[in-house]
Amino acid sequence: MKVAVIGSGAMGSGIAQIAATNGCEVTLYDNNPDSLEVAGQKLVKIMDRLVEKEKITQEEASGILGRIEMTSSLPLIEGASLVIEAIVENLDIKKQVFTKIENLVDSDCILATNTSSLSVASIASACQNRDRFLGLHFFNPAPLMPLVEIIPSITTSDKYVKKVKQLMLDWGKSPAVARDTPGFIVNRLARPFYAEGLRMYEEGIADMATIDWAMKEIGGFRMGPFELMDFIGNDVNYAVTESVFTEFYFDPRYKPSITQKRLVEAGLLGRKSGHGYYNYENTSSNPKPNEDRELGTKIFNRTIVMLINEAADALFLNIASQEDLDTAMTRGVNYPKGLLKWADELGIDTVLKGLEDLFEEFGEDRYRPSPLLKRMNKNGETFYS
Ligand code: NAI
Repeated sequence: MKVAVIGSGAMGSGIAQIAATNGCEVTLYDNNPDSLEVAGQKLVKIMDRLVEKEKITQEEASGILGRIEMTSSLPLIEGASLVIEAIVENLDIKKQVFTKIENLVDSDCILATNTSSLSVASIASACQNRDRFLGLHFFNPAPLMPLVEIIPSITTSDKYVKKVKQLMLDWGKSPAVARDTPGFIVNRLARPFYAEGLRMYEEGIADMATIDWAMKEIGGFRMGPFELMDFIGNDVNYAVTESVFTEFYFDPRYKPSITQKRLVEAGLLGRKSGHGYYNYENTSSNPKPNEDRELGTKIFNRTIVMLINEAADALFLNIASQEDLDTAMTRGVNYPKGLLKWADELGIDTVLKGLEDLFEEFGEDRYRPSPLLKRMNKNGETFYS
């Protein structure tokens, strides 16, 4: 099978690696030869490291590299049965590129975009034949993160969704099918993880080190919200929040934080700039957490009920199946448990009470409980069993 990957940046080179590792012939196209050069060097380094660690043999490494053809000539994608686009996040540019791609490939070649924040329907609108167009959203680093969100748009035919889902399983990935709605699954469900941390910090309930400690120690998350925002980059994380907020017609549930905006404005982007919420150049100035378990539990409880509310509301609105909502968070962002499974463990009544208390205390729409949780509580239902 021939796969064309469009864009050889962070995501495109990783996706090309996955396809070639799974035996596909890959054409990796970029209009910038320098980017192809960097991608080529990066892939060689990754292969060397995998051989060193004895994950693959030298022969396999050569095979994988040999199956990736790098080019700045778009017509070489001819003959591909799947095209995955991972170029700059700009609607007009993506549409222009897909118009060209459609003229080069067969009518049943699947066209996929790796977009994180644009609607699949809006990109697909550039094409004549839209039933084979869908979103295929990998997570960074693509070869390591198992989750792939598959996003059919309103014009996508089911047969292509099934085909791509099977292909992702064959590639050893964990696919989750999501509706073409802002943030798809992960970037929607994860918003309260950052938002509630920021809000508690703004209210002065605790400092960032304490909030991070609570989410790790009490919640079992690998990183706290502030560490994670610094890791992702405050500019990137803020842009996702702002895009989801705008796309949801300013639903207060997704309201961005002025605290984070100020960090971005100040150039405190996180690890990549040496300083974000924390200072990575002079770590001695960073605050130490207050390891008070009662305070930590309050912090965790407030965040987890908001996360569960978001997951429950996504299920209520048929954004994805219950299983896919849970898979997305464990396989895409390493949550210790699926949020709906977590809801069952805590008890729907406890989660609902937590949300009602917040709603009562703040009187803000942001804390409104999902109708699904209310209904389930009334009927004594659980998500699983
Ligand atoms: P990147 O900036 O690392 O790479 C983009 C590549 O596209 C560059 O090599 C650039 O030369 C090339 N490019 C730009 N315009 C082009 C054109 N007209 N024709 C051909 N090539 C062109 O970007 P990255 O991070 O790899 O993101 C790519 C896409 O994947 C975006 O849509 C982004 O939203 C999405 N995405 C990014 C994730 C991330 O964590 N970086 C995660 C999931 C999705």
